[in-house]
Amino acid sequence: MKILILGSGGREYSIGRAIKNEQEEHELFFQPGNGATDNLGTNINIKDYNLLAAFAKENEIELTIVGPEAPLVDGVVDIFKAQELTIFGPSAEAAQLEGSKVYMKNFLAKYKIPTAAYIESDSIEELYKFTESLSTPIVVKADGLCGGKGVIIAQSHDEAKKAIGEMLSGKSFGDAGKKVIVEEFLDGFELSMFAICDGDDYILLQAAQDHKRIGDGDTGPNTGGMGAYAPTPLVDEELYQKVKDRVIVPTLEGMKKEGAPFEGVLFIGIMVVNGEPITLEFNVRFGDPECEILMPLMTSPVSDMFYKAATNRLSEIKVEFSSQYAVGVVMASANYPYSSSLPAEIVEDEVHHESIEKYTHISYAGVMKEDGVLYASGGRVLVCVGLGDSIQEARDRAYLRCGQVHFVGKKIRTDIAYQAL
Ligand code: AMP
Ligand code: GLY
Repeated sequence: MKILILGSGGREYSIGRAIKNEQEEHELFFQPGNGATDNLGTNINIKDYNLLAAFAKENEIELTIVGPEAPLVDGVVDIFKAQELTIFGPSAEAAQLEGSKVYMKNFLAKYKIPTAAYIESDSIEELYKFTESLSTPIVVKADGLCGGKGVIIAQSHDEAKKAIGEMLSGKSFGDAGKKVIVEEFLDGFELSMFAICDGDDYILLQAAQDHKRIGDGDTGPNTGGMGAYAPTPLVDEELYQKVKDRVIVPTLEGMKKEGAPFEGVLFIGIMVVNGEPITLEFNVRFGDPECEILMPLMTSPVSDMFYKAATNRLSEIKVEFSSQYAVGVVMASANYPYSSSLPAEIVEDEVHHESIEKYTHISYAGVMKEDGVLYASGGRVLVCVGLGDSIQEARDRAYLRCGQVHFVGKKIRTDIAYQAL
């Protein structure tokens, strides 16, 4: 197939890599891709979605896969579908599950999907009043997309009120903070679950855990994710079943009733409290770095899974998973997540160990190429992925690979997958 992948991160690299590793040959295009995706296919540079759809028509692209949330919320799927192109992702309307936290919370409440008790409002008095009724910590969220920074866990009532005020005034997140959610703090362990959906049917992938804070032991500010592993032994069959029955099935049915059937990746952020899965949030795309560890665990062709999902035929296929575990360690640049960093050349040692060659690889994210040389260009630069028959083995391999990649200022967490060991 000819396949177009939208996005520029490690997530998109890992999808492209998985497709390239399939038995069948595929031709890949990335919009815009990064300094390493051009090893997997062709990077293009067409920002306007109408022009991009025209490119897809002209080049007989048979499937488009959308990585990040922004193009989904902006309606790229609707534009492609109007041109009768096959694209995997939710419509702009269905993408509101991520694009508006108020939409998502009200949807969860309407369809009785367990979530943290909350109030949504644009009235400071109402929000303050609900805040007073909660014990600390208190969670304050801006409604719109904030690049993963729109959630404040306030340790005191005063801190919560300050966050509410700054959001409503537009000071912290502009228009995205015009409406605010205040909710109860849930104490438990967090999971990332992903359901590939075609509007009617779904395939639930293995449960993963992300590491959102910058520092070891979950300290310091939040990031996009510093590492992930899967499948996590913290989830048993009973918990998978609860997530299916209480979250995924009512969500797919609810979205159909809302007139916006959900097609694409439903990313369910879950807090498990006393064995019960509570939905923290939805995203409408793969997590990053979760995608980088889930892709290599799939042994049936992922391009076919995305194609069948995009053509409402998921029920025709059976997706197969490897019996191994995957651990991914993010290597970020010096100033992440505070500010950008100067480009730094990436030097990789030759891999001599047979098991490292066979059971590790790199998913490239924030990289650029100049005269054939790869540079770390900021943010999360790459993910070292290790596979193994146990989490410990996968993790050891991932860290061995990390030791073979060098650039000035490289920053990693040293405790990825600690929850499972
Ligand atoms: P969100 O963008 O809603 O996923 O929030 C970002 C992070 O904040 C989550 O991954 C959780 O770690 C944390 N968080 C969000 N809501 C809650 C909550 N109600 N209770 C505890 N932690 C939360
Ligand atoms: N790693 C979490 C996310 O992609 O939102």
